[in-house]
Amino acid sequence: MTFYVTTPIYYVNAQPHLGHAYTSIAADVLARHHRRRGDDTFFLTGTDEHGEPVADAARAQGLEPRAWADLNAAKFKALLPAIGVEPDFFIRTTDPEHKRRVQQVLQRVHDNGHVYKGIYEGWYCPRCADFKTEAEIGPGNRCPIHEIELTREREENWFFRLSAFQERLERLFAEQPDFVRPTRARNEAQAFIAQGLQDISLSRARLQWGVEVPWDPGHVFYVWFDALLNYYTALGYARPGEDLTARYWPAQLHLVGKEILKFHTIYWPAMLWAADLEIPEHVFVHGFLQGSDGRKMSKSLGNGLDPFEVLERFGVDALRFYLFRDVTFGADGNVGMEAVAVRYDSELANEYGNLVSRTLAMIARYRDGALPEAGHDATLDPELASLAGEVAAAFDAVDLSGALELIWQRVRRLNRYVEERKPWELARDADRSGELDTALVTLHHGLDVVTAELAPYMPATCALVRSALEAVPIEPIPPLFPKRDR
Ligand code: ME8
Ligand code: MG
Repeated sequence: MTFYVTTPIYYVNAQPHLGHAYTSIAADVLARHHRRRGDDTFFLTGTDEHGEPVADAARAQGLEPRAWADLNAAKFKALLPAIGVEPDFFIRTTDPEHKRRVQQVLQRVHDNGHVYKGIYEGWYCPRCADFKTEAEIGPGNRCPIHEIELTREREENWFFRLSAFQERLERLFAEQPDFVRPTRARNEAQAFIAQGLQDISLSRARLQWGVEVPWDPGHVFYVWFDALLNYYTALGYARPGEDLTARYWPAQLHLVGKEILKFHTIYWPAMLWAADLEIPEHVFVHGFLQGSDGRKMSKSLGNGLDPFEVLERFGVDALRFYLFRDVTFGADGNVGMEAVAVRYDSELANEYGNLVSRTLAMIARYRDGALPEAGHDATLDPELASLAGEVAAAFDAVDLSGALELIWQRVRRLNRYVEERKPWELARDADRSGELDTALVTLHHGLDVVTAELAPYMPATCALVRSALEAVPIEPIPPLFPKRDR
């Protein structure tokens, strides 16, 4: 099985924030899980560097777009090791190899007869780089996402015949109900299609910062098509001297935030069909991380939880855990420093961390660090043996918070087992030495099972635990989640 997973490529018009880290960590958790299952896995992320959002931001800084893009792309790239994210490739849409492939694919769309020249007139959000339909215009003629005033645009553009794909899209959604998940997102996409699709701009005449239209060099491609194509073009040059396209295309999964649903679930499959390419298997649309004010976290609103502050106070694995523990993946959720502290203390330190400390300490103390030669307690077998399958099923449904909950149920079960068996009492009674052996072996085995499933979420912590479980002799380790100053 191959597993090709992507994040959106992020605009380099601003600094990376927790929202970007969120999708990147989600993709990383998925990639690590699938690698562990033995799937041939490829994980792509990167930066979206053309178009108005970037050109405008660069101008505001008095910089050339390229210089501004270099500066910010470096920050997005630098964020990844800090959050434990290890993609197989980081694409930048300013890569010459990407631009060349965008031109090739869109030339084919042109040659297949899916484009024509026309006049675009309508409302546009320069921050979304999106031509808004009437239904997408917020109160006061504003962008409902960025809350800025929309601009009136009128220019001669190349158009893509999206309307010609109306029926094929309807059929896709009817025949593959899991093409878009969760259901709420699929319904939203279907409602958009049901309004009747209009043709959309494929090029911009007034912008220069973009990929040149090969058949009309005064134009650059509309940034969204340049950007969407990254998922396909990257495979052509991610490995020098090797073309991975046949191996990984079509992608299994695009992860995206809900504000870019229309582009990924409607424009993108239509564009791929127009270029005679296969469409991705699934798009998963997650919700917004919101500030404590309940509004979408964003640079422009300044209501964010600073990922670097979380990293500094609680560490990378606590951040990764928190994001899928406190917010249901797929839904919106509020995040804040206080909530991180609560999860850190009550679950990481008191539950998982404590289970690890107790298990290692008891094997060290009662058996001199040698894991007894005994069978484990069969009462826990059904719950432990079913975990891997249940977690895999949750991952297949992209239910990252559901999978984590399943793992956590076992963490709690094992802590209850300690309370039930009271190994410290067994240790005082020489006649019950066999029972103590069983309890210790059971805890060691249980911890091994939950740690394996937890590793995609908390790779550094779980690697530590794994080597502690395998050590000879087994020894106590310092607390994984030490008390922090508040
Ligand atoms: O839209 N909560 O880039 P972008 C959750 N370049 N996720 C969030 C978030 C939040 N508050 N804020 C950002 C673009 N994200 C285009 C994409 S793809 C071909 C082109 C995440 O920099 C989420 O994944 O605005 C969202 O879709 C993405 O960042 C948008 O990043
Ligand atoms: Mg955005």
